[in-house]
Amino acid sequence: MSELSLRHWHLRRDGQGIAWATIDVADSAANTLGSEVLREFAQVLDVLEAEPPKGMVIQSGKAAGFIAGADLDEYSKIGDVAGIKVIVARNWALFNRLEAVTWPTLALIRGHCMGGGLELSLACVYRIAIDEPATRMALPEVMLGITPGWGGMLRLPRTIGPAAALDMMLTGKQIDARRARRMGLVDECVPPRVMENAARMLVLSGQPRRRLSRMQAWLNGPLKFIVASGAHRQVAKKARRENYPAPFAIIDTWQHFNGNSLGVPPAHPASLEHIFAQGTARNLVRVFFLQQRLKALGKGTEFAARHVHVIGAGVMGGDIAAWCALRGLTVTLQDQSIERIAPAIQRAAQGFSKKYRGDRKQVRFALDRLIADPQGNGVTQADVIIEAIFENLDAKHALFRDLEARARPDAILATNTSSLRLEDIGSVLARPERLVGIHFFNPVAQMPLVEVVEGERTDANVLSRAVAFVRQLDKLPLPVKSAPGFLVNAVLGPYLLEAMRCIDEGHSPETIDATMVRFGMPMGPIELADTVGLDIALATGKALTGASEAPRALQALVTEGKLGRKTGTGFYVWEDGHARKEGLSDSVPGLTERLLKPLVAATRKCVAAGIVSDADLADAGVIFGTGFAPWTGGPMNHFASSEESSHNSEHSSKDRITA
Ligand code: NAI
Repeated sequence: MSELSLRHWHLRRDGQGIAWATIDVADSAANTLGSEVLREFAQVLDVLEAEPPKGMVIQSGKAAGFIAGADLDEYSKIGDVAGIKVIVARNWALFNRLEAVTWPTLALIRGHCMGGGLELSLACVYRIAIDEPATRMALPEVMLGITPGWGGMLRLPRTIGPAAALDMMLTGKQIDARRARRMGLVDECVPPRVMENAARMLVLSGQPRRRLSRMQAWLNGPLKFIVASGAHRQVAKKARRENYPAPFAIIDTWQHFNGNSLGVPPAHPASLEHIFAQGTARNLVRVFFLQQRLKALGKGTEFAARHVHVIGAGVMGGDIAAWCALRGLTVTLQDQSIERIAPAIQRAAQGFSKKYRGDRKQVRFALDRLIADPQGNGVTQADVIIEAIFENLDAKHALFRDLEARARPDAILATNTSSLRLEDIGSVLARPERLVGIHFFNPVAQMPLVEVVEGERTDANVLSRAVAFVRQLDKLPLPVKSAPGFLVNAVLGPYLLEAMRCIDEGHSPETIDATMVRFGMPMGPIELADTVGLDIALATGKALTGASEAPRALQALVTEGKLGRKTGTGFYVWEDGHARKEGLSDSVPGLTERLLKPLVAATRKCVAAGIVSDADLADAGVIFGTGFAPWTGGPMNHFASSEESSHNSEHSSKDRITA
């Protein structure tokens, strides 16, 4: 019988005197820890303190999982650091209170257990994880530019040792149930059918709380500096403190302030004051919500493809086909001959084997779904047909004429073209409204964004089905209008060309690349051009800006057949897939601003021309399509806030865009 029924929690005592506290947040598919939910949890503890149970099990009433973390909607509305500190102080105290109760406590973790959810479970004496693929544990705060301030920085190192804890907190990586058991994050890992019994037995067992080994306890005590300096070195390789203060703050807060962010003096760079004044946290939360917005685009359309036919088994078509098969679709892959399809299937087999970590059965199932189809028999059956042949209008015309005659009337006809106009490709179709662009990026498996291109004639229903299809592939769809370069290449092109013009002026590739990596790009523009292929960079540049503006160094390399990574030489010499970088890179004042200026201008132009529907979607596209420094919240956001700050302050950061 229910002893206490609140809006988000139910409390029930069983015959053995165990209190079962079930979190089931009202009006939400997943449990998040907002103020009201945690206030109610304090009420649960009040009731139990009045009449202590023999044990307490905290579990979820949701099929989706245990607890997804803090309520980010609520969090994003807090305007100042004082508001943040109130929440941190309240939850820090609440979880300390949970840890100090006089009865044994246990978190029964089934499905996701993230952020504040894991911090809550760490305040319990015991944790049991249910052995299912959906069970995942993480402290992903760092990815939002914040720190696990509700006790995670104190308790995770105490539970699994500081090196493993910092690894989890600094990367946000997810741990599955079995791994969690092995590393001591949970006490037991059990199948669902026995979970309640296992919880009952463990919570009443009297077994002492897990303790660290003596060595680990030393590393979490007097020898903290050893682990901290190693972690500092690792983080500094990947991020700069001025752009990403949170990972550094996690290490410092653990090392010097016993994991308590409230104990960090406001002037210290690890303080909440510092983290929130800097802006990255706000921007990364913005990026998270932009991602949610893209994910939501596919909702409301009842379309699920079962069979995809891909034509062109080259770099793109081969990888698109493999990705579709990995996502459970039946795929027929067509090219001019079986010899041209074979390498794509071989590449797919390697990818599947890596993905499934050698699980041969899974690899075989995925390969069974990927069917070589040199005759193109799949055309008549497919729900979606994706063309990825040579970038040649005549070839595409011949193909689409044939496709329209043979495809099912309701099948989506899609092209992966980068530079041809959709209107030109569709001109040979009797029903050009069926044609849509589904523009993947290279490498397909790694790039999260896919542009869904609306031509002048594209039917709205076809467009929304294409968006739903991209979601089905677990990619982020970005609707764009048909225009040269769509969004992503239109933005990248002028940036790469400017970088190559800097080479014409005598800057080294190393200097240019290091400058932009320092700003937060995943790869410098020159290395990126070499990776894409200099012939493609030249052709795209010409298509976007006209031939006269092509940089001299680029022209010369293409003429010599030095096309970058694929030929072994370009701006860099390539060895084993890596650019050989020589010499030290100088820091050139004003170079960051100079390189960003054309990128920002191009993004603004796309927004003004309606190629993307608003500035937020443009930021999302540039971040997820190019890896543009996420700490900025995107070029439109960064540009707007830089303008604001250069108005408000005479000391604008050197990395800010000032033009
Ligand atoms: P690719 O040259 O690697 O592959 C093209 C494949 O199409 C070849 O295997 C060729 O045999 C096959 N093919 C040509 N005509 C055919 C026909 N009539 N029937 C059947 N197969 C035919 O080209 P890639 O790079 O994969 O590009 C394909 C398309 O994807 C192009 O439209 C390109 O603009 C676009 N794209 C390319 C990107 C890249 O980074 N390479 C990125 C995004 C889009």
